[in-house]
Amino acid sequence: MAAGQEQLQDIMRQPAEILFRHELEALREEDSGNIPAGWQMSPQSVLKFIVGGKAGPTEITPKYIGNKRLIEMAVATLVTDRALLLIGEPGTAKSWLSENLAAAIYGKSGLVVQGTAGTSEEHVRYSWNYAMLLAQGPTPEALVQSPIMRAMEAGGIARFEEISRCASEVQDALISILSEKTISVPELGKEMNARKGFSIIATANTRDRGVNEMSTALKRRFNIIVLPAPADLSTEIEIVKKRVSEIASSYDLQAAAPADEALLKVVTIFRELRSGMTLDKKEKVKSPAGVISTAEAISLLTNSMALAASFGSGELTDEDLAAGLQGAIVKDDDKDRLVWKEYLDNIMKKRGAQWRGLYNACKEINQ
Ligand SMILES: Nc1ncnc2c1ncn2[C@@H]1O[C@H](COP(=O)(O)OP(=O)(O)OP(=O)(O)O)[C@@H](O)[C@H]1O
Ligand SMILES: [Mg+2]
Repeated sequence: MAAGQEQLQDIMRQPAEILFRHELEALREEDSGNIPAGWQMSPQSVLKFIVGGKAGPTEITPKYIGNKRLIEMAVATLVTDRALLLIGEPGTAKSWLSENLAAAIYGKSGLVVQGTAGTSEEHVRYSWNYAMLLAQGPTPEALVQSPIMRAMEAGGIARFEEISRCASEVQDALISILSEKTISVPELGKEMNARKGFSIIATANTRDRGVNEMSTALKRRFNIIVLPAPADLSTEIEIVKKRVSEIASSYDLQAAAPADEALLKVVTIFRELRSGMTLDKKEKVKSPAGVISTAEAISLLTNSMALAASFGSGELTDEDLAAGLQGAIVKDDDKDRLVWKEYLDNIMKKRGAQWRGLYNACKEINQ
């Protein structure tokens, strides 16, 4: 193995363009569509990379499972000069989709600005290497470009995570970038013009809405696509199953993949707690205060697998699952403990022998 490849294997979390390098290569090779300026492949191939299919003999695994039309709209947005904003509840694959879109379109998903309350205009535009600035004055070498400026220069895709967490003046700095497609650097007396292919994919969480409501001026520059929670039980099970096996293999977890029965139980519990109703719609259920998204179901199962692999027989038991469920559902709130207790007693206990083992294990922990 080449030295570079060995190093890549040590990376804790591989970016999408490395993880799916073979798929991306296969798609580029067989691409016969029209490739937009600055793109690595045609919009049809980008779509295939995201929703799955075949490129010659190579299997393309689905990255986003759900409504294909949404992905078509997302890709079509990026073909034009409009930016893309993915919004939705936590854990609805906004970040995952934006990473995979950037990997397919631009070949790199790493030009990221993480939106926080502390994000400043400099993170969006540029800043200076102050030692060099003091020594030599403003020179191109002393300029520290933001990921967005680098994407403009390269004609690539920049990602802006959790954009609604930024203060409004930071969000406003984006408006001029998105409408003028330039960043001026008055200190150097020059302007940086975006090359063809430049765009921004931003994400925002609907639970954060109201922290800093995005201005209409900024919203108008984005095409907004809402990613929904998985539509039905079987879709959600499919998503969880696929991601758990991918994540478990990347951690080299020496545990058996969760049985279909365990997946069914976890996803059922999650969907019922989330919707406030049993799946057959016959009984009402209280929802915990915290978020119980698909992403949580995925991490719950991988955590339970780690428990089973490290301290159990390698087979996922009801006790391992119960420990995971407790952590996912009862966050820091005593009310959650009560909600979970009620669910256990009113719903799960009555579900009969198949659920008994899990019920007992959950009951034991949720004292
Ligand atoms: N419809 C889906 N298709 C494929 N994977 C999904 C889907 N929904 C959720 N996931 C998985 O859920 C996990 C979490 O997704 P991600 O971190 O992108 O969520 P998010 O929407 O950005 O959440 P947050 O708002 O908390 O940042 C990922 O591993 C992703 O694969
Ligand atoms: Mg995210």
